[in-house]
Amino acid sequence: MDVLRLDNIDAGYGESQVLWGVNLSVREGSVTLLLGSNGAGKTTTLRTITGIIKPWKGHIYFMDKDISMYPTYRRAEDGIIMVPEGRRLWPDMTVYEHLEMGAYTKRARDKFSDNLEFVYQLFPVLKVRRDQLAGTMSGGEQQMLAIARAIMGDPKILLMDEPSLGLAPSIVIQVFETISQLKERGMTILLVEQNVHMGLSVADYAYVMENGRIVLEGPSEEVSEAELIKKSYLGI
Ligand SMILES: Nc1ncnc2c1ncn2[C@@H]1O[C@H](COP(=O)(O)OP(=O)(O)O)[C@@H](O)[C@H]1O
Ligand SMILES: [Mg+2]
Repeated sequence: MDVLRLDNIDAGYGESQVLWGVNLSVREGSVTLLLGSNGAGKTTTLRTITGIIKPWKGHIYFMDKDISMYPTYRRAEDGIIMVPEGRRLWPDMTVYEHLEMGAYTKRARDKFSDNLEFVYQLFPVLKVRRDQLAGTMSGGEQQMLAIARAIMGDPKILLMDEPSLGLAPSIVIQVFETISQLKERGMTILLVEQNVHMGLSVADYAYVMENGRIVLEGPSEEVSEAELIKKSYLGI
């Protein structure tokens, strides 16, 4: 079953159109990858899914329900949760306060203790550092916290916007291990990445976006073999 489906989406900012007829689906329990270079429209795609911007044309279906015009809070209440680009933590708040803030919807509050146990199991360091201010943590720990905060929102689909960006290689490996663990747990994930190699290794299905258009899609193994990917993204 498709948890999420974008049907022929046009969207943009002010007068300038960024997305052109985007079709994209995410199957339940899969990791779906959205690749593309800087400025391709990946973050804009995620913003139309969370409702930060509204589509000019086309429809967004979540569990077969047309949510195109739903406000952001209602989509979060439904379980559409984003780990934003650049983490967006509050430097003067503690780890635990972030986890509380992540569980701001009613559905998430009802599952608070189960989800807290899960994130502490996934990231034991966050339990140890529960009272530490986020601004004093390393980049890798901050990324873990950003993911943990999103999980506290009890996602039915987790949108991750370049979670490995700006992290040291060893931490990037940890981030992808986390994504694999979430997938094993049955989490449905839409992952935006510029790390093409790692992204394709964890994903089931991939889309490639250029200038706001999907130019290639397929199972990850097929996309890794595509000439476009080899030339433009993998440099082989
Ligand atoms: N808030 C905004 N206002 C106006 N233009 C924007 C805004 N955010 C992004 N854009 C433009 O939209 C295009 C796609 O950006 P974005 O979706 O952030 O790309 P990506 O995430 O793939 O790097 C770019 O040309 C960018 O300059
Ligand atoms: Mg982006």
